[in-house]
This record gives sequence, C-alpha cells and structure tokens, in this order.
Amino acid sequence: MKYRRFGRTGWMVSEVGYGMWGMSSWTGSSDAESRESLQRAVDLGCNFFDTAWHYGSGHSEALLGELVRRNPGKKLYVATKIPPKNLAWPARPEFTLDDCYPPEHIEQYVRISLKNLGLENFDLIQFHSWSDAWMEDDRWVKMIDDLRRLGLFQAVGISLNRWEPWNGVRAVQSGLMDSVQVIYNLFDQNPEDELFPVCAAMDVAVIARCPLDQGSLTGRLTLDSKWPEGDWRNKRFNPEALKECVQHADALKPLVPQGTTLPGMALRFILNNPAVSTVIPGMRKAKNVEENLRVASEGPLPADLHSELRKHRWDRGAASITMLSGVVKYSFEPRSAVGTESGPSHQPGLDRAEKLFPRRTRSFFCGASSRSG
Ligand SMILES: NC(=O)c1ccc[n+]([C@@H]2O[C@H](COP(=O)([O-])OP(=O)(O)OC[C@H]3O[C@@H](n4cnc5c(N)ncnc54)[C@H](OP(=O)(O)O)[C@@H]3O)[C@@H](O)[C@H]2O)c1
Repeated sequence: MKYRRFGRTGWMVSEVGYGMWGMSSWTGSSDAESRESLQRAVDLGCNFFDTAWHYGSGHSEALLGELVRRNPGKKLYVATKIPPKNLAWPARPEFTLDDCYPPEHIEQYVRISLKNLGLENFDLIQFHSWSDAWMEDDRWVKMIDDLRRLGLFQAVGISLNRWEPWNGVRAVQSGLMDSVQVIYNLFDQNPEDELFPVCAAMDVAVIARCPLDQGSLTGRLTLDSKWPEGDWRNKRFNPEALKECVQHADALKPLVPQGTTLPGMALRFILNNPAVSTVIPGMRKAKNVEENLRVASEGPLPADLHSELRKHRWDRGAASITMLSGVVKYSFEPRSAVGTESGPSHQPGLDRAEKLFPRRTRSFFCGASSRSG
C-alpha cells in the first residue's frame, strides 16, 4: 500500500481507502461479509474509512467502530458525516443553514455518531451535503470550532453534491475546510476544472468518491441488470441511464491494459491525479477489496493511456456546468434521469449556479437562447 498526505492535516492515508455506504444500505449486504472485508482491508494496509450516520442510521458507523476496536495497534482514520436536518439530497439553493445544518443539529449528530462508533473522538467530520451559499452564515463555523476544541474530532470537510464540484470552491478557498469529498472518476472528470486547483492551492485533501460510478465502471452491468425490489440502483440505473452507462463503459473496455481490469484501470486513472489524497471504492466483497488494494501497488497509468482516457469524460445531467478561468462553460446532454447517488431525484445545478455566481453566469444566460429552443 502507498500512502499520501491528507492535505494540511498531515495525516498519511492509504491511496485506496474504503467507502462504507453499500454495507449498510444496499440490498444483498451481510454484516459477516462486511466485517471480513473490512479486516482484510486493514491487513492489506488500508487506513482510511468513510462512513456516515445516513448509512443505515448509524449501522455502518457501528461496523467501523468495531473495526477500530479490533485493531488497537493500528491508526485507522475514521471519517463520518452529519446528515442534513431535512434529510434532503442534494442541497437545493433555497435550503438555508437552518434547514440543513443549524448549530444544535451539528452538535447533536456529532454526538450521535460518536455513540454509534463507540469512540471518544474521530478524525474527520464532513457535511453530507453542501451549498456554498452557507458561507454567508458563520454559525456553523463557530459550532465546529467549539466541538473541535472539545476534542470530539480533529478535522472538518464537505461532501459535494453530485455533478457540482464548483459548489464547494468558496468553502475550500475560505481556508475553513480540511477536506473535500467529490465524485471523481473516468466519466466525471469535472473536478479537475476548478475544484482541484483550488484544493492544491489551499492544501485541502481530496477524497475521490464513486470511483466506479456506483457499478458502471466495474464493467459488469448489462442492459438486463436489475436489483431486488426497493434497491435504489433500480432508479439510479433506470433503463435509459443503464443503456448510456453500459455504452460508455463498453467504449473503455478495449483500452484496459493486459493484466489489469476495468475497475483497476479506473482506480489508477484517479490516482494519477496528485490532487487526490485517497480514493474510496465501496466494497462489500473481500475479493473486491483484494483487487482494489492491489491497484495501489501498480503505480501510475502510462501517460499515453491517461490522455486517451481523458477523452472519455462524460458531463452528465440536464445541464453540466464547469468554470474555467472565471468563464462559465455550459454543455447540454440529452437528459437521462440518472438520479443521485444518495437521493431520490437530481436537481440540475443551473439555477444554483446562477444564484451563487450571478455575475459570472449572467452573460451566459443572456446568450443561451438555445436552451429554451
Ligand atoms: N454524498 C456522499 O457523501 C456520498 C455519496 C455516495 C458515495 N459516498 C461514499 O463513496 C463511497 C464509494 O461510492 P459508492 O460505493 O457509491 O460507489 P463505487 O465505489 O463507485 O461502486 C461501488 C460498487 O462497485 C463494486 N466494486 C468495487 N470494487 C469492485 C471490483 N474490483 N470489481 C467489481 N466490482 C467492484 C462494489 O461491489 P461490492 O459492494 O459488492 O463489493 C459496489 O457494487 C461510498 O461507499 C461512500 O462512502 C458518499
């Protein structure tokens, strides 16, 4: 296992960390299998674990707490998340701090997470949704400072809404954040545009989440893929979205080098970027743990393959916005109701961008007559 610096905290975290959502909220999970996989990861050198209260109302946190106690001689970094009070993802522009993270809610959930983990403190607390509009209201800053002073956690971060890597740039620039968690994978390359340069400048750690696009980049989905009733992936991969994901993944398969797999290539693509501190694939099966952790020792992808893979960027949603050098770029994609990674419906980021960055977006909106035909 190789280790990278976790931004200004100075922690040395494993390049491949562990995403713990699936083991508590996806159908087909078994605690016995999860425990075995988590321990296998520790044995192979993984030391960074991402969980949240929302993952099974504390169940995933409890599994992580057990793991920490089972490995008293090892430093395992524990990262968890406070849910928004209204339990609504993503954070919509009209949501206020009081809707999502009023100070008393922050304190309440830090303490609930500590209880679920069975620990006296943990390493990283993250806001499970984020809107840069909340930078206008510093009550959360004071509460985080107070709780940190009590020694309940060491560092603070944000987890950004899907497809909105720009909606955290102000928070990173403020110097108040130690880490940012963002979707970054072979398809979703847009954090490279504006977010990563700011993270590098501010020495803020990047946690790359959904590295396998929640299944597409395993290369194992087919047009017939279905999940048991009630599994959120039936919405995430509705027939139209599934078709697109399978097509995009199939286009990558001929590029997989011999001796590697598509998930391996996908993880190495992410690790090629020095802005990333750790990539956190979701893993329930021990064989996936073993395969993914092996990747860390395989080193960077060759430069020519990396360049080729950059062409597979896929900006999704009704509107995807990226900001380059202060200019809003806007691209249309045929709408596919892909949904969100942790919520029932996707809210396009356009109106949010307009509110947060009115001056920068105005010229675009004026000229965008094609948007409404
Ligand atoms: N809003 C937020 O803050 C937010 C939202 C989403 C995710 N996250 C975090 O990011 C983590 C990762 O995202 P994710 O779990 O949604 O998606 P992901 O990591 O992109 O994909 C997970 C899926 O890939 C499978 N997989 C993993 N390694 C594999 C391999 N080598 N070969 C084949 N299949 C493999 C897993 O199978 P098995 O599970 O069966 O092993 C699981 O079905 C989450 O667990 C969570 O910690 C945060």
